[in-house]
Amino acid sequence: MRVVCLISGDGSNLQALIDWQLKGLLGYAEIVGVVSNKVEAFGLECAKRANIATTVLPHQRYPDRYEFDRALMSVIDDYEADLIVLAGFMRILTAQFVNYYANRLVNIHPSLLPKYKGLNTHRRAIEAGDSIAGATVHWVTEELDSGGIIRQMEVAIHAHDSEDSLRRRVLEAEHCLYPAVIRDLSLGVVAC
Ligand code: GAR
Repeated sequence: MRVVCLISGDGSNLQALIDWQLKGLLGYAEIVGVVSNKVEAFGLECAKRANIATTVLPHQRYPDRYEFDRALMSVIDDYEADLIVLAGFMRILTAQFVNYYANRLVNIHPSLLPKYKGLNTHRRAIEAGDSIAGATVHWVTEELDSGGIIRQMEVAIHAHDSEDSLRRRVLEAEHCLYPAVIRDLSLGVVAC
């Protein structure tokens, strides 16, 4: 299963996927390309260190979302991707893109969806007085953070938690959850 990861930033989820791949734990999945819309994304270095091909596609160079997504689709198709993995890709995708990759496009979101779609998930969970936060891997559909849930992992919120301490613990959970889901998708344990 040829996997292309889309990133915008640190790429710690990408690094977790690479680590599992290097240990032979990613099933039939193989990360064949990493695409970033930001030239400074640290995740690009993670990919290069692992000898994975990278492409940078700065979104500012395109007149609108539609043209950017068209260019992105062309890059992804050149990698002959079976599965597209959003790993901290902080761009809203057009309906044209999402529908083209229907059932081949997954995302990880730092909350227990359907709670806290969008941004600032940890702050909102703490402010609401929640005792449990977490992460969700889901299929991507036209509506933001609303596609079918594949798997979730819960993380306890401690009384002394700040937004940052909670973000770090949820990220640790993401680093187990995401590779396990990609492995299971490649093994057919989770239906596509
Ligand atoms: C992760 O926490 C991921 O869940 C979140 O961005 C972070 C990326 O971290 N994604 C979203 O908020 C998407 N809506 P990373 O670049 O270190 O993997």
